[in-house]
Amino acid sequence: MSDLLRSAPARHPVRLVLTLGVAALATQMAGCGNKAAVDEELAAKLTQPVASVVLTAAPAAAPGSRSGEDIYKAVCSACHASGAAGAPKAGDKAAWGPRLGAGLAGLVKSATNGKNAMPPKGGAADLTDTELTRAVAFLANQAGAGFKEPQ
Ligand code: HEC
Repeated sequence: MSDLLRSAPARHPVRLVLTLGVAALATQMAGCGNKAAVDEELAAKLTQPVASVVLTAAPAAAPGSRSGEDIYKAVCSACHASGAAGAPKAGDKAAWGPRLGAGLAGLVKSATNGKNAMPPKGGAADLTDTELTRAVAFLANQAGAGFKEPQ
């Protein structure tokens, strides 16, 4: 029970931030029409505090320094752990076998640009090229690719 009490306040602000973020987005979208100047001001006011809270809640690792495993867990696993949207599952040698022939560079290229149901960079636009390469290597290595993650 004490565990429950301790974790409740920690989760609550995250939910609040998400709610505020959605509200701010909706405000921005609603403002796409005529009253642009007024709504932009309002949207800026609404998004500013949200942005600063989101920043403080961001993972400790600085952009550019995240490992392939970090990125896989945070981003890629959403599809590649379960095979959602037809993604080749991590560690599924049959699914990855034909793809590994493209080599690390070839796979990074299609991960960068996106492929069918996979959005560019798996939807994480803030990944650096090196980080994405690490994530591709980590993912492909689960199926035995033996790629080297760049430093
Ligand atoms: C929204 C779901 C989704 C996410 C998130 C996602 N992928 Fe994918 N990924 C896919 C799907 C679907 C395919 C299969 C595309 C195809 O061949 O039709 C795929 C294929 C790939 C391939 C093989 C590409 C090829 O040329 O055969 C690589 C490499 C890959 N993903 C890497 C990643 C990495 C790295 C991440 C995280 C940064 C990631 N993916 C995140 C859905 C996703």
